[in-house]
This record gives sequence, structure tokens and C-alpha cells, in this order.
Amino acid sequence: MRVLITGAYGQVGHELMRLVPAGFEAIGLDSAELDIADAAQVAAVVDRVQPQLIINAAAYTAVDTAESELQRAYAVNRDGVANLAQAAQRSEIPLLHISTDYVFSGDATAPYGEQDATAPTGVYGASKLAGELALMEGCSRYMILRTSWVFGAHGNNFVKTMLRLGRERDELSVVADQQGCPTSAASIACALWALSQQYRDRGTLQWGLYHYSGLPACSWQAFAQEIFAQAHELGMLPRVPVVHGISTAQYPTPAKRPAWSVMDCSRLQQAQQITPADWRTELRAVLLELAGQ
Ligand SMILES: NC(=O)c1ccc[n+]([C@@H]2O[C@H](COP(=O)([O-])OP(=O)(O)OC[C@H]3O[C@@H](n4cnc5c(N)ncnc54)[C@H](OP(=O)(O)O)[C@@H]3O)[C@@H](O)[C@H]2O)c1
Repeated sequence: MRVLITGAYGQVGHELMRLVPAGFEAIGLDSAELDIADAAQVAAVVDRVQPQLIINAAAYTAVDTAESELQRAYAVNRDGVANLAQAAQRSEIPLLHISTDYVFSGDATAPYGEQDATAPTGVYGASKLAGELALMEGCSRYMILRTSWVFGAHGNNFVKTMLRLGRERDELSVVADQQGCPTSAASIACALWALSQQYRDRGTLQWGLYHYSGLPACSWQAFAQEIFAQAHELGMLPRVPVVHGISTAQYPTPAKRPAWSVMDCSRLQQAQQITPADWRTELRAVLLELAGQ
């Protein structure tokens, strides 16, 4: 089965290309080869590649910059998804897409379900929500996986920032009043390939909106502490830096961050037998990969 992968050099895109299962041919294109915001280019590439499935790993992901680049964020995260949805619908193929916990306000205290009301607090979350709606309207066979706190060996993310700071400092301050679920880019790629395999084998899927993130939930402070503990154990840090917990108010950012980013992933588990990965095990694999680089 031939699969077109957009944003193939991003965190998740990279893992999708690394983990192509047997029996699949992945055509991965980066933003220079396929700008999803360009409707004509999307149509031309889909006509040329003739995929049987599209996985969209492309997105405008600069959460803070989005506040001042609203047009670009919407051009990619809403219009780009609409372009892909239209091309998929025209070619009668499904589209697998990734969205975010930022579609929620973060005011909840229990894990968010797919049916819970959305209320993004910033431009990035709003543009991603608009992309979800564009996909639902434009394409009849789609899967949306909302995920959170993505990390991997490739690209910029919290794990790599902490490793850098951990080498430079004996102690540092990390936000302790935001709860979320770290998710490895590799586990998202595995979930997307598992869905692709199910689609290939059965000819259909239970299309719709799903949550997929790692377990267990934690704060950024606890995430940092686990990164340092594991990195030290693997000989990547000479000592474990002290991580002081601070409040969100003490670490202001242009875009507001949700205090509660925990999502209930049971729907995907029940419908497609895809279970959340333990991010601590995934973290170890990422650290080992980074140590070997
Ligand atoms: N990172 C997180 O913590 C997080 C959390 C929740 C959900 N998500 C979602 O997960 C998905 C994957 O995120 P990620 O972390 O892998 O992001 P990423 O590393 O920033 O990768 C996104 C990729 O999209 C490409 N891209 C940007 N604009 C494009 C365009 N107009 N046309 C084609 N490609 C374009 C980028 O290429 P260039 O670099 O060349 O622009 C980049 O390679 C996204 O949908 C994101 O919203 C991410």
C-alpha cells in the first residue's frame, strides 16, 4: 500500500519514515517538496503519487510565534488540512491526521474525552481545531489522533532542551502546576501505522476523532526529573540536577498553556485495540538513540 506522508522531516514524520511496516511504500515529502497550504500543489502531488492513504504529519507547531503569525498558522493548520481533505476525498482515499490537547482550555480536572467541549486559549490551538473541523467537513474517511507533549530524538522538544540545560546547570526551575501526558513521536508513528495496517487488512476503520497520548500523566517538573534520572543512569549526565518546581505565572509565555492536558485514550483502545505507551520506557529508547548519535 502506497502512503503519502506530509511533513516527513518533523518529529512524528521522521518516525513514520523510520518505522514503515512491511508491505507499505512510504512517500515522505517535506515542506519544500509539498507545501500543504498550496491547494494546487497538494492536488498535483496527490495526482502524481497516487497514494492509497495519506498521513498528515505537517503542521505549524510554533505555539508562541503563532500568536503573532495568525495567518500562517491558519494557512497550514486549517487550510492545509482542508486541501489534503479535498484531495483525499477526490481520490477516494482516507486521511490520517494529528491534532493536539491545545484544542481544550485546560480547566478540567478529569481526563478529557473526545466528546468534551473544546475551547482553545491561543492561536495555535484554535488553528488546529479549525483543521479538525475542515477535515471532518471535507473528507468522509478520516482519523484524527489528538496527542500531547511530543518528544523524540529528532527535532526540538522538551527532552532535548532538558538534556542541554542539565549539562550546563546544577539546578533549574521547571513548571510544576501543568499536568499532561508526554508522548513519544515513535509511539504516535506506531499508532498511525497500526491504523494503516488495520485499514489495509479490513478495507475500513472506525473513522473519527480519537485521543492518543502516553501514560502516566505528570507535571513538567516530574518529566524533567525523570529525564535527568534516566540520563544520569545511562551516563549522559555527570550528576542529577536539582529541579525546583515553579508556577506557570513564574514562567510567562506569549501563548497561554493549558494547566490540564490529560486525555482519556480509552476510545482508541476499544475501537482499534491501540493502547497508550508508557512514556518512561519510550524516553529510555530516545535517550539511548541520542547517546548513540
Ligand atoms: N510537538 C508537540 O508537542 C505536539 C503536541 C500535540 C500535538 N502535536 C501535533 O503533532 C503533529 C506533529 O508534530 P511534530 O512535533 O512532529 O511537529 P514538527 O516537528 O514541528 O514537524 C512539523 C513538520 O511540518 C512541516 N511543515 C510546516 N508547515 C508545512 C507546510 N505548509 N507544508 C508542509 N509541511 C509543513 C515542518 O517542516 P518545516 O520545518 O520545513 O517547516 C515540519 O517538518 C502536528 O500535527 C502537531 O500539531 C504536536
